[in-house]
Amino acid sequence: MNTPKPKENPFAARDAAAYKRWRDWKLENQPQVAASLLVDVDDPFNVTPGEHGALLDRLRVCNLAVYALAKTDAPADEIIRAIAGRFGLFEPDRHLCAEEDGITPLSAVEGGQRKRYIPYTDNPINWHTDGYYNEPVQRVRAFMLHCVSQAPTGGDSAVMDPEIAYIRLRDKNPEHISALQKPQVMTIPANEENGVEIRGPVTGPVFFVDPSDGALQMRYTARGRNIEWADDAATQDAVQALVRVMDRDAPDVIRFRLKPGQGIICNNVLHARTGFDDDKENNQKRLVYRGRFYDRIAE
Ligand SMILES: [Fe+2]
Repeated sequence: MNTPKPKENPFAARDAAAYKRWRDWKLENQPQVAASLLVDVDDPFNVTPGEHGALLDRLRVCNLAVYALAKTDAPADEIIRAIAGRFGLFEPDRHLCAEEDGITPLSAVEGGQRKRYIPYTDNPINWHTDGYYNEPVQRVRAFMLHCVSQAPTGGDSAVMDPEIAYIRLRDKNPEHISALQKPQVMTIPANEENGVEIRGPVTGPVFFVDPSDGALQMRYTARGRNIEWADDAATQDAVQALVRVMDRDAPDVIRFRLKPGQGIICNNVLHARTGFDDDKENNQKRLVYRGRFYDRIAE
């Protein structure tokens, strides 16, 4: 992870030579194994310049880093807030199920409103980016996950940098990118609870350049019943090609299982999770805190 990142913006410029330079740099510097994402951090409330730089090196290359804390006795929401602040993440997403500060405990719950939403169950979660159902003013640009405890089995993460998904698709067929950039390509139907609409339908592109900073953004979920795709052959082809890019054996997918005291910080990368089995009798339950932010990680 040593080559400097090219300065020009490959998406805003629509410049084939700039895109090629950026693409080659990306592919040359991609981490191949989960271990290369990992950075030891001693104290989350006092991230040293060395630790900060090591995390940022990884974030620059693949939009993702994993920290492993030596000190884990503080509450998880305070840990997330402290690390988030160090990376310029100050504006939390206050969605339906979030606590006041936008930081949410994720665990398999017994009932209530949260039970309707898959993150609050022990079921597997398919590929998605966070907040794909949000309006543009509530764009989730970054998120963090902090692991407090593991279930005895399962709860493994898979992650993929959306910029790599973009490159693989564009290499395969640039028409796939054109199809997935159309503003009408993906509609998330309205969210209703007990017959009352609590969010209207949201339509938008899968890939787009964020007008605020020129970065590539991605809205996606593999949950078929949650999506209405544009009804044309180019869209169907592109969506199928995208699914293949995230296949189980795809070389660009990185898999790991967060241990207690470890966490992810990322620019809203594609992610998925396997199901898990809590051991309720012995109180060995999976508990992960999540923070979502409207900011992008500050470089
Ligand atoms: Fe998620």
